[in-house]
Amino acid sequence: MKLRLIKKRKTPAISITPRRMGFTFKGLEDQPYWFDNDPVLTHVLNVMSLTFPDGERFFVDSVRALRDQAKGPDRQKDISGFIGQEAMHSLEHQAFNDLIADGQYDDIVNHALAVTRKLLAGARKYMSQQQQLAATAGLEHITAILADAILRRPDLVEKMHPSVRNLWVWHAIEETEHKAVAYDLYKDVSDNYLERQRTFLSGSAYLVGFTSYFTWQMLKRDGIHRQPLTLAKGLWKGFGYRGVISSVIPAWFSYLKPGFHPWEDDNSALIEKWRASLPQVKEKNAA
Ligand SMILES: [Fe+2]
Ligand SMILES: [Fe+2]
Repeated sequence: MKLRLIKKRKTPAISITPRRMGFTFKGLEDQPYWFDNDPVLTHVLNVMSLTFPDGERFFVDSVRALRDQAKGPDRQKDISGFIGQEAMHSLEHQAFNDLIADGQYDDIVNHALAVTRKLLAGARKYMSQQQQLAATAGLEHITAILADAILRRPDLVEKMHPSVRNLWVWHAIEETEHKAVAYDLYKDVSDNYLERQRTFLSGSAYLVGFTSYFTWQMLKRDGIHRQPLTLAKGLWKGFGYRGVISSVIPAWFSYLKPGFHPWEDDNSALIEKWRASLPQVKEKNAA
């Protein structure tokens, strides 16, 4: 595992612009295990995608509820961009999730969606608006480091089936563009270190538990649970040397530092590098 030196830098000037892509995923049916023909990692990413539409609506609501407390000249514009981008992500991943269900996994998908909605309903009911924003800031760190792994590793993007590659690259670009929005707003509202860590740790634990459980259900449905070699291969690709998940663990820890800021790792050059690879679309006005 390669550790990168992290330098403290200023937030780069980035325009946070929503873009509706209208992906159709033509050809996905030819390779259902769309990530590297690997059932384990494909289902891990599928299960994560299931959480996006409802999860990102929660992010939007938590930011919108406290946006009037934002300080700084460009903050309202950035928040509008964030809200617009997450709304687009919900729509595009909903289309992708409809394909994942595809008859074979309907009951598992419905169960996963019901659990997600129940967890989020509990969060809305029992957590204060400030705590909900803290949770959003922490979960946005997780999406940002996964996005960084995708954009920094062309070899990972190459392993995705062409029909879904643009969805994940587009989402990774926009998660990078707006990675500091919820965090900066939380700092404006409270800057409570312990609350930030509590919600980050519990959010991380829920995400790991949820993803592991439902990935296992999908693997069982496919009969992969009886194929130890396939399982071991998938786990190695996820958690072994330069694995998809293991490579983001050092960046996950960086959130625990009291003086952390999402842009201390300035990966903004990756945005321009990858944007040229996407189909050109008309940009949406921010919400
Ligand atoms: Fe998103
Ligand atoms: Fe996000």
